[in-house]
Amino acid sequence: MNRIKNSNLTKQSKAPVFDTLLSHAKRDVISFHCPGHKNGRSIDKELKDYVGQEVFKFDVTVFDEVDSLHDPVGPIRKAQELMAEAYGVRHSLFLVNGTSSGNMAMFLSACNPGDSIIVSRSSHKSIMTGIIMSGVWPIWVQPKIDQNLDLIFSMTYDQVKEALDKYPEAKAVLVTSPTYNGIVTELSKIADLCHRRGKILLVDEAHGAHLHFNDRLPESAVEAGADLCVQSTHKILSAMSQGSALHFNSKLVDFNRVKKVVSMLQTTSPNYLTLATLDLARRQVFLQGKKDFDKVLDAAEWGRSYINKNIQNMKCFDRKEMNKLGFDLDETKLTVNVTKTGLSGYEVESILAREYRIQLDYADLFNLVAIHGEGTIKADVEAFVSALESISKKYHGKQKNWILKIPTLSTEMVMKPRDVFLSNSITKVRLKKAVGHIAAQILTPYPPGIPVVIPGERITQEICDCLMDTASKGIRISGQENDKLRMVKVFTNF
Ligand SMILES: Cc1ncc(COP(=O)(O)O)c(C=O)c1O
Repeated sequence: MNRIKNSNLTKQSKAPVFDTLLSHAKRDVISFHCPGHKNGRSIDKELKDYVGQEVFKFDVTVFDEVDSLHDPVGPIRKAQELMAEAYGVRHSLFLVNGTSSGNMAMFLSACNPGDSIIVSRSSHKSIMTGIIMSGVWPIWVQPKIDQNLDLIFSMTYDQVKEALDKYPEAKAVLVTSPTYNGIVTELSKIADLCHRRGKILLVDEAHGAHLHFNDRLPESAVEAGADLCVQSTHKILSAMSQGSALHFNSKLVDFNRVKKVVSMLQTTSPNYLTLATLDLARRQVFLQGKKDFDKVLDAAEWGRSYINKNIQNMKCFDRKEMNKLGFDLDETKLTVNVTKTGLSGYEVESILAREYRIQLDYADLFNLVAIHGEGTIKADVEAFVSALESISKKYHGKQKNWILKIPTLSTEMVMKPRDVFLSNSITKVRLKKAVGHIAAQILTPYPPGIPVVIPGERITQEICDCLMDTASKGIRISGQENDKLRMVKVFTNF
């Protein structure tokens, strides 16, 4: 499969936002606009001594020459058109508050208050914000867990179908793919199903901005047929932090509404350096994504097979294993299971940072996730693997008896999360006495990092037992307000 059109090479070699900012910076214009540092002049000396002053000349504000993110008619518009062409979509919009804001925008663009949407319980926290902001009814899907790999999957086709059969009124489906571990679900099948039934498919593809540009990588959301998807261009490609993009390819959603919503959610003072790097990241991945990600994939593959062959107490799953389970894998993500060292993933992460100057993006009780990006080189992977090898020799304690388990908690959504959020009728009751009440907070034990209660849900005996059991084992519960979980916030008017 040849994913990108070489005929577009000349056009895609341009970077209109970057070129405009560079020529502006070179003209040494006297600034009477925000920001107050005036081309970097008053930036703190210590910072300037380290990074230099020139970069601050890119930190400008909205004026005709550099265009406006909210009503683009010049270089920003051209750069967004180039991005859309590179990804093969009808429109792309730049985001300067990450995929978090893009996820919120997908909800507000595709749904009205009272609509229902099928969504995984293991979604990123910005999805819950989108649910609250848009006033939708979430139809939760419990993700599957693999006890051998200590891993949570994204929603499967069968799960989406089951949910759609049961709730035919659902307006949309929101899927996260790839997951933090690089697991990609059967998006084409899900897209076909959604469209056959007139449903909108939204994809949180925060970790997938690179997929489209190398044939060795899994199918991307837009290739699969998603209506809207959001990608963190800053996570794997070379945009600066907060630089993301929303891609639009839908017959079911009104693009003018998407534009309005995206504008409502973004600052009126976007960071132009972030915008320039979004433009450059698109150019870079279009022109050299194949070559760059061949190298990254080779390095990651080398690391994966070295760990599996030579490091006794650690293991990485591979693409074949994922395929057998019905998923695909973005092999640039290296998940290393460390349970046999007798240490948790958190502990190994901390040793790597303190003793080996290696910082990971993510760890949990069981696993480390090494995120490879366009800038990763083989020497980095060698350093990582060699550090793991020496940690594995030094620590080989008894494997802890942790289990990644989600209770099969069946409950009902009685109120919309938004109505609970806006309500003044919230009180605290003892956990033991909470049965029958409607939850007014989110409580998420780690592991597995999936909420046990969500605002608007009826608290059952099973949920109380699960929370009390979890708290008694000293497992961390995100959302609890005191050291020990004794009270839970509930809605009073029921
Ligand atoms: C699956 C997923 N979605 C959304 C986000 C939010 O992305 P951003 O940091 O670009 O706002 C993240 C961040 O880690 C994520 O992992």
